[in-house]
Amino acid sequence: MKNKYPVFILGMGPGNPKFILPETLELINKSDALIGGKRHLEDLEQNGLKDLIFVEDGLDGAVSFIKKYSQKKMISVLVSGDPGFYSLTNFLMKKCPEIYFEILPGISSMTYLFSKLGMLWHDALIVSLHGKSDVPMEKIIKSHKTVFLTDAVHTPGIIAKKVLSSKVSNKKMIVGENLSYENENIRYLNLEDAKDMEFENLNLVVLINET
Ligand SMILES: C[S@@+](CC[C@H](N)C(=O)[O-])C[C@H]1O[C@@H](n2cnc3c(N)ncnc32)[C@H](O)[C@@H]1O
Repeated sequence: MKNKYPVFILGMGPGNPKFILPETLELINKSDALIGGKRHLEDLEQNGLKDLIFVEDGLDGAVSFIKKYSQKKMISVLVSGDPGFYSLTNFLMKKCPEIYFEILPGISSMTYLFSKLGMLWHDALIVSLHGKSDVPMEKIIKSHKTVFLTDAVHTPGIIAKKVLSSKVSNKKMIVGENLSYENENIRYLNLEDAKDMEFENLNLVVLINET
């Protein structure tokens, strides 16, 4: 039987607190315990009365906390962007099938970037390289617009190198770093330039056909 009280999974938007939904802020304030990344938990002004569980300390700890306290404390899990778009939601639902999760949407880093670019995203191929080993190059080369979620291994430079090594020359790269924060940086780059550049860890890449 599922638990009586929900555990909330809250979409925190791209990062800057001004993009958090008012309803999400209300739930955060009401919660007894918050689970999330340091990036989100440290940006929130807390009164010190809540339990804070950092996911960087290990996901097993977060799962045990949820299983132990979900009926005693109001728990909210804070995830970046939208919870339904490559976040912890899938992992938590699989690890805690007995728990009823209530999800609140957030502005995804991807939709944020496309809005800033004045471009549509409904026709984009979406590729998450976060923690993945394979890059679907054939699909990427055929697609006129691809958006990549990156990680420390799959950097914009590595993506540029992979595309160039497939002898593709009609594509341009857009890199959005630290989206929504004060040091946000969105650049249009040639693949030849991008392949040797350094980037901020938090970035999204869009690859578009030049013609
Ligand atoms: C695990 S995914 C989470 C995606 C999230 N659920 C969303 O809707 O944006 C993390 C990846 O999203 C991208 N990302 C998240 N926030 C970002 C930001 N503020 N600026 C640039 N990229 C961001 C990065 O590619 C990062 O590696």
